Amino acid sequence: LSLLWSLLSTLVWNPGSVLIILVLLLRLYVWFWYKCHIWDLQHCSTDLTGKTAVVTGANSGIGKAVAKELARRGARVILACRNQERGQQALVEIQVASKNNCLLLGQVDLSSMASVRSFSQWLLQECPEIHLLVNNAGISGFPKTLTPEGLELTFATNYVGPFLLTNLLQGALQRAGSARVVNVSSFRHAYGYVDVEHLTGASKPMKNYQSYDCSKLLLTSFTGELARRLQGTGVTVNSVDPGIVYTEIMRHSSWLHRFLFWLFSFFCKNARQGAIPVLYLSLAKELDGISGKYFSSSCIITLPTKAARDPQVAQRLWNASVHITNLDKMD
Ligand SMILES: NC(=O)c1ccc[n+]([C@@H]2O[C@H](COP(=O)([O-])OP(=O)(O)OC[C@H]3O[C@@H](n4cnc5c(N)ncnc54)[C@H](OP(=O)(O)O)[C@@H]3O)[C@@H](O)[C@H]2O)c1
Repeated sequence: LSLLWSLLSTLVWNPGSVLIILVLLLRLYVWFWYKCHIWDLQHCSTDLTGKTAVVTGANSGIGKAVAKELARRGARVILACRNQERGQQALVEIQVASKNNCLLLGQVDLSSMASVRSFSQWLLQECPEIHLLVNNAGISGFPKTLTPEGLELTFATNYVGPFLLTNLLQGALQRAGSARVVNVSSFRHAYGYVDVEHLTGASKPMKNYQSYDCSKLLLTSFTGELARRLQGTGVTVNSVDPGIVYTEIMRHSSWLHRFLFWLFSFFCKNARQGAIPVLYLSLAKELDGISGKYFSSSCIITLPTKAARDPQVAQRLWNASVHITNLDKMD
């Protein structure tokens, strides 16, 4: 017995094993922390039967997990996806998991304003009333790229597309009587700065991730301005940081960044956990009437960075966005 004990002690107490044990303990702690600090979805009784919800980027990561939960609660969910095939796969998966047959797949490329317009047209015919719009789709890690319409790709996808889509759907949201818009931002918005020239790529050169940070800052600023404009309409709009979530978000980054993300993934939330703050903003009854706020990944109202709170900055950004999307020259 003493021989076995000494063999076990040598196996366990070598530096490699100690490291593995420490990492596992840390992982256990992270799991427990998330469990205690994340809003308890199971205790939310919101039923969405008869309601219509639109989720952009619903074919993967956080968007798919959000769409699944909304479908489970009976909503008619519109999966707004860029890629028809990936969208169809997600639709089947969500249908099977939720046993909800009221799902619809819509094709939209948020980086293309023409695509956002034709998607909105189709959507408004299918659903004259929309109770929930989750602006979830997003990209990161792209170098500066101009779209055929002359917009900068990261900004077009993460900010201009959602800006135009939300505005085009405003009538349907208001017709619903009571509706919510949820903008999926990021804690990274605090590292960005506002410059309307970002939209066309005319601002000074930035590192890959800085354009992501700035695009999320613009989305957060837009949330505040839209909330001011929607006061008294029954439509609320808030933004949220899902936390650090291991999804495909880094798929366009360098192999080194992807590798580091993979290593770190052990301590990240999974997509379902990352969806919870987004679902909190979408479902929680106590948020009725709350608008223009930014929520942390622990579902707590938090002040976003100063630039996101400045109404003059937001107004300037709004005007530039209206101009760039031709929202003022609409049919
Ligand atoms: N993961 C994190 O740690 C983290 C942290 C903070 C914030 N967020 C935000 O959370 C949101 C969801 O990201 P995720 O982590 O779930 O990443 P993800 O798995 O990569 O999902 C992103 C989704 O956006 C879609 N999308 C990208 N470009 C699009 C376009 N031009 N038009 C329409 N759809 C487009 C993707 O579609 P395809 O499959 O066709 O590419 C995909 O469905 C993003 O806004 C992201 O910025 C994520």
